[in-house]
Amino acid sequence: MAHIEWTDDLSVGIEAIDRQHQRIIGYVNKLYDNLHDRQLLADVLADTVEYTESHFGFEETMMEEAGYPYLRAHKRIHDLFIRRVAKYKERFVAGEDIGEELHDTLVRWLITHIKSEDANYSASLVAKFGRDEAKMTKKKSWFARLFGD
Ligand SMILES: [Fe+2]
Repeated sequence: MAHIEWTDDLSVGIEAIDRQHQRIIGYVNKLYDNLHDRQLLADVLADTVEYTESHFGFEETMMEEAGYPYLRAHKRIHDLFIRRVAKYKERFVAGEDIGEELHDTLVRWLITHIKSEDANYSASLVAKFGRDEAKMTKKKSWFARLFGD
């Protein structure tokens, strides 16, 4: 499984979130490029985890503000994922070569999650915020981290 290509079927119909997903895919592809370089892998792994956690926080706040009825279930899936990745991180720190396995997991998880759970909140968020990014992102402290360079 090599690089993931962004295709239209991954769009949740909300530009701000699509861009965050595209950035996560960028990190996962970078991970693939550095599978066997421990130092680079450590850096990319840290970036991927940090950005993904901010992104989850953003999604969860948007779902909450939109009154999305399945927020709790969605948040549980995010939390499980974070714990799963933390286990890979532990194995990595213990010296294991987990790059390929982690990459495969991330690719599979991400595609499935975006196409199913994330697609499910789309209508609720659009109903609340329209497709106006400014309405979603104002007053949000993680704005710079999620949208900056
Ligand atoms: Fe999500």
